[in-house]
Amino acid sequence: MSLWNKHAIFEKNSIILILGIIVMISFGGLVEIAPLFYLKSTIEQVKGVRPYTPLELAGRHIYVREGCYNCHSQMIRPLRDEVERYGHYSLAAESMFDKPFQWGSKRTGPDLARLGGKYSDDWQFRHLVNPRDVVPQSIMPGYPFLAKAELDADDIGQQMKVQSLSGVPYTEEMIANAAKDLKAQVNPDDPNAAGLEKRYGKVNVRKFDGGNNPAKLTEADALIAYLQVLGTMVDFKGYDAKANYR
Ligand code: HEC
Repeated sequence: MSLWNKHAIFEKNSIILILGIIVMISFGGLVEIAPLFYLKSTIEQVKGVRPYTPLELAGRHIYVREGCYNCHSQMIRPLRDEVERYGHYSLAAESMFDKPFQWGSKRTGPDLARLGGKYSDDWQFRHLVNPRDVVPQSIMPGYPFLAKAELDADDIGQQMKVQSLSGVPYTEEMIANAAKDLKAQVNPDDPNAAGLEKRYGKVNVRKFDGGNNPAKLTEADALIAYLQVLGTMVDFKGYDAKANYR
């Protein structure tokens, strides 16, 4: 039997054929997938992308908890109709600190990847409480309880620590100041507001549920802080995809 006939063993025995297929596919998979975990160029770094502040992160948890991703995507595809409707297509770097990512898989409502700054805080607040107040034909459910529920974020430092374990670059200093930074973001007069901006860079600092509930730090504050930062970290005026490609 010459060497070339040895493959007959695969052709005559289906179990060996299946094992052979599994070995070949695993090998192919390893060669294609494994480098993605250590190549630096898998996700290009883009200027402006920063980890979420403690308040935004708390808001993001509410977004996940309430299942907003069931009706909303956060990924604009590089297709003309999407770009004309929603804005610049999403960059991989824009969700590099989103763990788990919120790309979503269904659009009952519109994509939210570039929502930040599209509406006022007050619009967002009224829309969350009862979407029909601002969009009469809306079928989105209301979330009025978010406006009353006090934000429970005592463990925000720990949550940031967990995020840092999965690769979000939260520093020791950010984690140590998490609770203070969270409060400072809703109060421009807070002596710590400057520290917040020093640690994170460009941050929206204001009471996000506006005059609606000035005394209390609510879940609506956190969720709106998160919604208002979506898609705003990269300044696309100066963005050149080719220059960014290394
Ligand atoms: C059952 C599906 C559904 C769920 C769940 C849902 N939405 Fe919506 N959402 C919609 C629909 C439909 C619209 C379009 C009509 C409107 O503006 O109200 C919409 C619109 C929006 C808009 C306006 C977007 C724009 O660009 O005009 C925002 C912001 C929004 N939703 C946020 C949320 C958040 C935050 C949650 C979770 C707390 C959520 N949605 C949950 C269906 C949903």
